[in-house]
Amino acid sequence: MAGTNPYIQQSRTRLPQQRYRVTFRLLESGETHEVVVEPRSLPYQRSGLPGSLLDIALGNGIELEHTCGGVCACSTCHSIVRQGLASCNEATEDEEDQLEEARGLTIQSRLSCQCVPDGSMDLVVEIPAWNRNLVKEAPH
Ligand code: FES
Repeated sequence: MAGTNPYIQQSRTRLPQQRYRVTFRLLESGETHEVVVEPRSLPYQRSGLPGSLLDIALGNGIELEHTCGGVCACSTCHSIVRQGLASCNEATEDEEDQLEEARGLTIQSRLSCQCVPDGSMDLVVEIPAWNRNLVKEAPH
């Protein structure tokens, strides 16, 4: 179930008005999944902002890490938008702060739960192999 984080700046998003494609490349498994996003199907209300890459992935049976439940409070949903980034909402400062915790950061990096495409372009999204819930606690 999607949740919201009242402690962060709310992102300005625009849901698509037309069909578009998202190709997810899961680098750990080498799998590629192509999803056709139908505006009338959104949001899936699975996790993250409505219509976000995380919402789309989970709504289509593609499991992405999302330790905080899609509320911009971790970096496990780090993705790299290789194509179509210009059609996505702008990252907020809160998203950028969380992204700094992600390994292998690039200028095309986003948090899947906060990145909402407007449907004006097709996207190619890489999910890094290191997107796992890295426990930071010291061993007992
Ligand atoms: S799932 Fe935690 S920031 Fe996206």
